[in-house]
Amino acid sequence: MTQSTWTPTSWRSHEAAQQPEWPDLASLADVEKQLRALPPLVFAGEARTLTGALGAVANGEAFLLQAGDCAESFADFRADAIRDKLKVILQMAVTLTYASGVPVVKVGRIAGQFAKPRSSATETQGDVTLPTFRGHLVNSEVFTEQARRPDPERLLQAYQHSVATLNLLRAFTKGGFAALHHVHAWNMSFVKDSPAGEAYEHVAQEIERALRFMSACGIDLTADGNLDEVDFYTSHEALLLPYEEALTRQDSLSGHWIDTSAHMLWIGDRTRQLDGAHVEFLRGVLNPIGVKVGPGIDLGELESLCDTLNPDRIPGRLTLICRFGADKIEDKLPAVLERVGTSGHPVVWASDPMHGNTFAAGGIKTRSFGAIVQELQSFFAICRANTVWPGGVHLELTGEDVTECLGGGDAIGEVDLQRRYESICDPRLNASQAIDLAFSVAELLRG
Ligand code: PEP
Ligand code: CO
Repeated sequence: MTQSTWTPTSWRSHEAAQQPEWPDLASLADVEKQLRALPPLVFAGEARTLTGALGAVANGEAFLLQAGDCAESFADFRADAIRDKLKVILQMAVTLTYASGVPVVKVGRIAGQFAKPRSSATETQGDVTLPTFRGHLVNSEVFTEQARRPDPERLLQAYQHSVATLNLLRAFTKGGFAALHHVHAWNMSFVKDSPAGEAYEHVAQEIERALRFMSACGIDLTADGNLDEVDFYTSHEALLLPYEEALTRQDSLSGHWIDTSAHMLWIGDRTRQLDGAHVEFLRGVLNPIGVKVGPGIDLGELESLCDTLNPDRIPGRLTLICRFGADKIEDKLPAVLERVGTSGHPVVWASDPMHGNTFAAGGIKTRSFGAIVQELQSFFAICRANTVWPGGVHLELTGEDVTECLGGGDAIGEVDLQRRYESICDPRLNASQAIDLAFSVAELLRG
């Protein structure tokens, strides 16, 4: 199939699913112009380094941990919350590495995860129907006409929030906080007494013992920065295309285009139409790309997506994020692995065990820890049976003590859900559920 010429605006002649109805197109155009003049968030070299790291995942030499909020919130924008999310991800990564000996590539759903695809364009409460909530990049979750009106000024706010979040992440990961000898300090007080927190303390002690042993043997652990700094990357769903286009720049060294809004971008299960605007836009940028693969996938279309998004078959360029649901994965995943395997495309296989396992308990959207673990167990087993490397997990979590998902070591029940349910979109694992899950994944990785 020959492709027409790509430009940052070529998506505009394709149908774009899941876009809001902007009430004022002139002010949207004005905001896009302002965004085009603002500095990039990430650089081409960083995105290339991440592609390389994901290439190692595609080759079975590393593991991808991609995690963060379902939807970041302008309202919950606090340094503590960002730090605690980072802490949990660092704890999970160190647990995985310690248990499996495999390097972990760390990617946050953070510093730009502000736009949401929705199952309906409107929401009705009583006899009032309003536009649906599409993430803080577009409107507010509050159910009033004013709050639900798509507001282009939010694109500028999202950019500013992303800049500040990324700045903090860079400071934490390069400024000493993420140094391996702080492994104990990442365990938060409310997690410490949970079974997951205690298991983590044990891992942290063992790591400290190993560090002391190496020092005692005369190995200078400060000699190169490896133990003091962590590479941490950002990602979000590239949903709102005017925003992504406005932050897309040409790399002065190579002439290639990069979407500077994040290191990695993904296409959701609802926007992966082969001839759609999202696929058209992302095929032209050099960032590593993810595609969500749900139970409705057509195998021929999946192969064409691989051809379109990764024509040069670069390992690490394309991650397929499988999200079938614990009850569907055994039926769906084997044929998907086989089709892509036969095509010869080098992809990263990741499992999102969250989005296929959402249900309502007493009117509250939730997920059960047991179903999440079950989908992961099936993912690992099916990958192994097909001699495919189970390359990563994609999770929705927070560093806080919320009660949004059922089960886990603290045995959160349905009655607990309303106690601390703070997500503005999907239910997230809390910090101890997330660490608990890391131990389950570590177990699966060991095989
Ligand atoms: C998401 O990752 O928040 C999401 C909406 O996922 P999916 O596209 O898989 O439904
Ligand atoms: Co979600």
